[in-house]
Amino acid sequence: MVFNTKVTDKTGKEIELRNAELKDAEALLNYLKVTNTESKYLICEPDEITMTLDDEKAFITRKTESENELLLLAFEDGKHIGNCSLMSVGTSTRYKHRCTIAIALYKAYCGRGIGRLMLETVLSEAKKLGYGQAELEVVTENLGAIALYEAVGFVKCGVLPNSMKYRDGTTVDSYWMVKIL
Ligand SMILES: CC(C)(COP(=O)(O)OP(=O)(O)OC[C@H]1O[C@@H](n2cnc3c(N)ncnc32)[C@H](O)[C@@H]1OP(=O)(O)O)[C@@H](O)C(=O)NCCC(=O)NCCS
Repeated sequence: MVFNTKVTDKTGKEIELRNAELKDAEALLNYLKVTNTESKYLICEPDEITMTLDDEKAFITRKTESENELLLLAFEDGKHIGNCSLMSVGTSTRYKHRCTIAIALYKAYCGRGIGRLMLETVLSEAKKLGYGQAELEVVTENLGAIALYEAVGFVKCGVLPNSMKYRDGTTVDSYWMVKIL
C-alpha cells in the first residue's frame, strides 16, 4: 500500500516514513546485506541475500499494489536508514485478522526513537486496515528490541526453542510476541 508521513526523532531530526518505491530497490538490497551483517538477530546470513534487482523490484511492486501490506521505509535527509514491514498472515476467514511485523534500522541510526516511531506508525495503519492482532518473533537475548515491543504493548506469549541456528552450530530461542490491536 501507499503511505507517506513525516515524524521527528529524539534528536529533533525530521524523518520521512514512506512506502518503498521502485527507485529504492538497490538501496533495499544493500540494506538487507548490511543489517544482516550488523545484527545476528535478523533472518539470514548476509551471503544468503541473493535476490536480483529485478526480484526486488517485483517485491516492491507487490507490496505497493497490496491493499493490506506495507513496506515502510525511513529516510533521513533522503538517505534510507531503516524498514518496518506489515505483512498479512493469510487471507482466509480464519487468518485474516492476523498480521506480522518486522523491523530493522542500520546500526548507526538505532537509539534515536526512530524504531518506536516506525513501529507505532505501522501498528496504527494495521489497526485502520482492520487487523485484530500483530505478531512477531524475537530472539530472547535481543533485549533492546524486546524493550521496544513491550513499550508499545506487545506481550510475550511463548518460546520457540532453537528458532535460529548459526553456522557454528549454536542456537538461540525466540519469543512469540502479540499485541491485540
Ligand atoms: C530493535 C530496533 C528496531 C529498535 O529501534 P531503535 O530506534 O533503536 O529503538 P528506539 O530508539 O525507538 O527505542 C524504543 C524504546 O526501546 C528502548 N530500547 C531500545 N534499545 C534498547 C536497549 N538496547 N536496551 C533497553 N531498552 C532499549 C528505548 O529505551 C526506547 O524506550 P522509550 O521510547 O521509552 O525511550 C533497532 O535497534 C534495530 O534495528 N536493531 C537491529 C535489528 C533488530 O534487532 N531488529 C528486531 C528483530 S526482531
